[in-house]
Amino acid sequence: MTGCPSYYVTTPIYYVNDKPHIGHAYTTLAADVLARFKRLDGYDVMFLTGTDEHGQKIERSAEKAGIDPQTFCDQVSAHFKDLAEAMNFSNDQFIRTTEDRHKKAVQHLWKALEDKGFIYEDSYAGWYSVRDEAFYAESELIDGEGGEKLAPTGAPVEWVEEPSFFFKLSAFEEKLLTLYDNDPDFVLPKSRLNEVRSFVAGGLEDLSISRTTFKWGVPVPGKDGHIMYVWIDALANYLTAVGYPDVDAEAYKKFWPANVHIVGKDILRFHAVYWPAFLMAADLPLPKRIFAHGWWTNEGQKISKSLGNVIDPYDLVESYGLDATRFFMLREVPFGNDGDFSRKSFVLRCNADLANGLGNLSQRTLSMIHKNCDEKLPAPLDFSKEDNDLLSNIEGTLEVVRGHMDRQAFHLALDAIWTQASAADTYISVQEPWKLKKTDPERMNTVLYVLAEAIRQIAILAQPIMPASVDKLLSQLGVTERGFDQIGAAGRLQPGQAIPKPEGVFPRFELPEEGEA
Ligand code: MSP
Repeated sequence: MTGCPSYYVTTPIYYVNDKPHIGHAYTTLAADVLARFKRLDGYDVMFLTGTDEHGQKIERSAEKAGIDPQTFCDQVSAHFKDLAEAMNFSNDQFIRTTEDRHKKAVQHLWKALEDKGFIYEDSYAGWYSVRDEAFYAESELIDGEGGEKLAPTGAPVEWVEEPSFFFKLSAFEEKLLTLYDNDPDFVLPKSRLNEVRSFVAGGLEDLSISRTTFKWGVPVPGKDGHIMYVWIDALANYLTAVGYPDVDAEAYKKFWPANVHIVGKDILRFHAVYWPAFLMAADLPLPKRIFAHGWWTNEGQKISKSLGNVIDPYDLVESYGLDATRFFMLREVPFGNDGDFSRKSFVLRCNADLANGLGNLSQRTLSMIHKNCDEKLPAPLDFSKEDNDLLSNIEGTLEVVRGHMDRQAFHLALDAIWTQASAADTYISVQEPWKLKKTDPERMNTVLYVLAEAIRQIAILAQPIMPASVDKLLSQLGVTERGFDQIGAAGRLQPGQAIPKPEGVFPRFELPEEGEA
């Protein structure tokens, strides 16, 4: 694979204190679509996901479940692996922070930070939230309903006093601000960069990076009793997966620095402040981008276990099928914004764009070909201006979609592709091929050929979002070469190709009854 450009995309690694929900599926879906897109576009891709298995939160969850932490991690991590399969995620690796290769990597990173003089020993006295696995300054806390102190996220906090190693985060204030100024796309969306920037400009305190009051974590090298703060442990996974500390490893040379870390807005600070600071301190190249997506609410309400409104991705897939679920999540809400999930908007969106949109377009076209052209793709005569316009606009869409994908603007990429499906719909209504059978069968053949070509290219572009459904569609058209190099004239359909009686690919859904969740 030498010579291929490379692309490295990651998801956050998920805490194994709970089973996967829609939020986890959403982050990994976005990374999956990017990875698939880049592979089709000729890149050598590394797509990484996995589980974050250390820290006090996991230790306590295991205790509560009455099992030892490793067994507990093995069980819950397996659920995340299952989800990846159920959602048709194409990750190249699934990393677990309890793996030996990871312990070795993060201990090496620690030593590098220590050798460069960025770690010192002291003691920590302050607030800690186990739920967020984060330290908070007194000034950041808010008052709970009963007057208790809470983290800004609403999570409970506890007072912690213990010996601790510190990372000299304060030494990186200027360097981080320069990074944000020099590369305004380092954090997207833009509004998030502003948040990060003002956090850093407000002044950085050194960061406590080891704990002594519990055991479930990676030991600090050379210092008994200290285990690493779970975030330094977790962030290092992105390096472990490409072979660090072996910087001569082929994967490391090929894939580091990562092209994009996709994260939720809640964990942006860790990725856009602490992570680049650690890397700068260790003299390692920085990732090119951190993209922070928004959060889903459920029918207007914050999703929480206590409200009992957690959206289970398995339920969605069971109700609506996998590809409609994948499509809805990235089409409905601009990536980066918060979004509200409702069954009604799900059904409306998928019926409009899939069943009545691309589904209907291809069903009609393939049926007409099957019925009127001897079950074979007809040979076209010369293309008219309308024919050429339709096909060249679709061909040009690849470049537009590339631009959107490079900024993780999935909704815009999908919008661009579906605009072409609508254009093909308009073309079919204007050309009225069903009338041409009697009046001008040769023109009918050309129109149907152009439509089949339009569908081929739209389907090729839509593969990353709905791989399984589009695979069926492309198979019905007899298309085997499916990379983006096939967009345009290069991959034109061969007249004479058998077109079997088409099977519907996108089902139509019933609107939920009023009040039905
Ligand atoms: N373990 C850390 C990440 C370490 S990365 C080096 C962690 N894990 S998590 O399991 O709590 O969350 C993972 C992701 O799920 C985050 O990106 C978070 O934003 C996302 N979501 C959790 N709930 C969500 C919604 N309701 N909606 C969308 N995404 C949400 O943080």
